Amino acid sequence: MAGHAHAAPDPLAPHASWSVTTRGTAPLPPMGWNSWNAFNSDIDEERILASAQALVNTGLAAKGYRYVDIDDGWWLRRRQPDGRLVIRAERFPSAVTADGAGSFRPLTDKLHAMGLKAGIYSDIGRNSCGQAYTANFANQPEGSQLEREVGLYGHIDQDIRLLMGDWNFDLIKVDGCGIRAMTPANPLVKSGAYRALGPLVDYDTLSRTDIPAVRGLYQEVSDALARTRPANDYVFSLCLWGSADVRSWARQVGNMSRTSEDISPNWERMLHNLDSVARRELYAHANSWNDPDMLYVGTGEFDMSHREEARSHMALWAMLNAPLIIGFDMRKATPDLLALLGNTALIALNQDPAGNQAVLAWDSDTVQIFVKTLADGSKGVAVFNRTGSAVDATLTAEQLKLRTDAPVDLVDLWEGKPARFTGETRLGLAPHQTLMFRATGQREHAGGLYLSEQPGAVNPAIDGVETPMADPMIHRGLLPWKNTKGSGERPIYGGWGGARADATPYGQALRIGGETFTSGIGTLANSRLEVRNAGFARFVTRVGVDDSALSATAKVRFEVFADGRSVARTGWIKRGDAPIALSAPVQGARIVELVARGDRTGLQNDLPVTWGAAALDR
Ligand code: GLA
Repeated sequence: MAGHAHAAPDPLAPHASWSVTTRGTAPLPPMGWNSWNAFNSDIDEERILASAQALVNTGLAAKGYRYVDIDDGWWLRRRQPDGRLVIRAERFPSAVTADGAGSFRPLTDKLHAMGLKAGIYSDIGRNSCGQAYTANFANQPEGSQLEREVGLYGHIDQDIRLLMGDWNFDLIKVDGCGIRAMTPANPLVKSGAYRALGPLVDYDTLSRTDIPAVRGLYQEVSDALARTRPANDYVFSLCLWGSADVRSWARQVGNMSRTSEDISPNWERMLHNLDSVARRELYAHANSWNDPDMLYVGTGEFDMSHREEARSHMALWAMLNAPLIIGFDMRKATPDLLALLGNTALIALNQDPAGNQAVLAWDSDTVQIFVKTLADGSKGVAVFNRTGSAVDATLTAEQLKLRTDAPVDLVDLWEGKPARFTGETRLGLAPHQTLMFRATGQREHAGGLYLSEQPGAVNPAIDGVETPMADPMIHRGLLPWKNTKGSGERPIYGGWGGARADATPYGQALRIGGETFTSGIGTLANSRLEVRNAGFARFVTRVGVDDSALSATAKVRFEVFADGRSVARTGWIKRGDAPIALSAPVQGARIVELVARGDRTGLQNDLPVTWGAAALDR
């Protein structure tokens, strides 16, 4: 406590700052095209430039699709002994240089001259994903063991200077197969093809993953990028597929972060990738977005003969602030595919300047309703049928946080048709259909904005999750490349117990002392949330230990800080106690912090707490 000479630093002390990374530039979800879903690693200059040109010619570039990203397949070897990376120049004629090493500078110059941005791909380990898993893919690195070590490991500074400095790429995607796959037991390692490394990531088991070591390596890349690009004009894309508890640290390190294994062009897999972000609305912010992987719109079960599926995939990615990265050979794009990818209403939802990921307003395995609060106060709404059967759904004004006694105006974003309802409206959904609306009405909370309507402004700096646990809420379909080998598709993606908008950390409705809250933030005890205050005067809430807490005796004290000053606090309260109302002046403060302190140290997983009806008011 204050004045105590030997007190340990308080881990929940207010910081009066916003701790999402300011490195790199991604104020909105990046949009563009990537070679992987279109060509796998079978890439060349002609294919990449043709898709780039198509983005320009079709007007998609003007609508925001600016990044043209080269994925796996560009490298030939790491030159010995100086370690410089060598491009597979036979595939990239403009990269040929007299010294034989090659340079992508002519290609990035060309993309820049077209008004586009250029992205490149690497791996945090010594080896790539292709080397680890798909040796039969085209364009694998060649040469000796050392020459085939094309990943960043041991070369972070050198490679970042080359790729992002000399070659002037604007985005780098850094994969993680090299720290996951090259185990001493891997036959490829045993045979001497590759050197063993770690593994630092045990994909199946968080507790066997060296989380600090993984984070440390990605941090080194972040530091190298900051040195190489002092103008800060780049995007750092993390590709750890939700492993290594990346959910809890990505927002301090990178600008977008994969939340699951690779998408494939089928419905089940899309559901899986969707679920890996759907409940992480408080972990997506300007400059650091959740990435459920690239679009597969146009291919397989999302081709234009599967209209509802293609629309759903596109609409949901837009609503969840996913980076919109096309994965289609644009030379073959049909007008209806271009119309879907270029749907201005959906792009506007994704690129809305408020940067709020949609929040689940209604959840089930059958229908889900996502609501995204936009900068102008209106709502983007997706009513989503996960199933292969037609279903009826009811959309209520309450789900939109609009008044139930005043008309709600809807615009159907597929058909452009207006509609109006009061209270609730009944909707019919075709199999796999997503109805999309923009909704306006009178706000239920007229005085300001609920925090759960502005998840992009709420950062669970400390979410109380002491021991990362796998998230059991993600749909787990068959992995096409694994089929039913092994023992099953088990929960592996860390994130269980993270803070939520309008739900407890474990997905229950918020409830304090028998009273249900349809709006609020659910988190665990021993947490600190940062809230960006865009000019509001007052913070109001009614707090308590959530009724879903397992412990009936553990106590929690709630405290609110405005730019580091304590402005309101409760005494110690426990489960079953009535909610305590707090109203704190926050005028002029840039950062409001919400601290829930438990009376025990260590694991708080049994102790969900609720900031009920938390709002910033004018
Ligand atoms: C991993 C990534 C994919 C793609 C491939 C390339 O699987 O998750 O997005 O980059 O590697 O080999």
